[in-house]
Amino acid sequence: MAVAVYAPASIGNLGVGFDILGAALKPIDGSLLGDVVEVDDSASGEFELTASGRFSHKLPDDPKQNILFDCYLGVKKHLAELGIQVGPVRMHLHKNLPIGSGLGSSASSIVAAVAALNQFFGSPLNDDQQLRLMGELEGQISGSIHYDNVAPCFVGGIQLMTEQDDLLCSTLPSPESWYWCSAYPGITVSTAQARAILPEHYSKADIINHGRLLANFVHALYAGNDKLAASVMIDVIAEPYRKVLLPGFEAAREELLKLGAYAVGISGSGPTLFAVCDDLNVAKQCDAYLAKHYLQNDEGFSHVCRIDEQGVANVALVELN
Ligand code: HSE
Repeated sequence: MAVAVYAPASIGNLGVGFDILGAALKPIDGSLLGDVVEVDDSASGEFELTASGRFSHKLPDDPKQNILFDCYLGVKKHLAELGIQVGPVRMHLHKNLPIGSGLGSSASSIVAAVAALNQFFGSPLNDDQQLRLMGELEGQISGSIHYDNVAPCFVGGIQLMTEQDDLLCSTLPSPESWYWCSAYPGITVSTAQARAILPEHYSKADIINHGRLLANFVHALYAGNDKLAASVMIDVIAEPYRKVLLPGFEAAREELLKLGAYAVGISGSGPTLFAVCDDLNVAKQCDAYLAKHYLQNDEGFSHVCRIDEQGVANVALVELN
């Protein structure tokens, strides 16, 4: 028995919705921009973990320091509460996303791991139970529970964190014509550090403006008014304080807007930058600009993406070996 699950990269915040909006990404060139977790029953001890992939060298050496071990313990505990005892597992992480990148790297590992473990143990947890556990595990890393990466990564699409009554998130309409350029410069920004530099309090003017922009964004998506939606993708909560952590961000935004991008923002807590375009040629020009000017070293990369409407997905083991 073996399963392999892919979980896509995501953009948290989408500029206008700090901690409450997020979107899953799918590169248009068909490349896998997300982690894959395999689970099988070939372990000799209780838990075994191996890793491969472009960014696996950044993972802790001790498998028990890896978030996948916490995923295993979390799933095991939930199943024990349901009276289900689980056996040993061997897990393999294909770490394709850079850590501390703003692409939802930890969320991708967590979502793939929890979904793979749940399937491996016969799918006893429903989607809501899995997503709540994913949020808790993500909170262990970033210091507070926020679903803006795990929810789109798991469910796909553009997600609004509803977090009201029993509903954790709701899918918003995705503008079909939009391309999402996403450029990771190759440096690391920790989410905990990027949260620590935010103010404790905001002015009345900022709060009113934030509410106006976010409400207009959601309204515009439902009204199919893509131009309005793009024009209100303005971050008054995090970007003014975080942009100092992103070398070249201001210059890149200016150039991307000149090239025809509709909106430019920080992906999650950065340093990845995203740009929204409604024309493939513009998106390709933005991508070329970012690849040339925003990347700072060989670890960086840039992709033109669409929204990944599917979220977590099973992949064939044979594709990975
Ligand atoms: N929304 C979080 C933040 C990070 O900007 O700090 C992404 O989950």
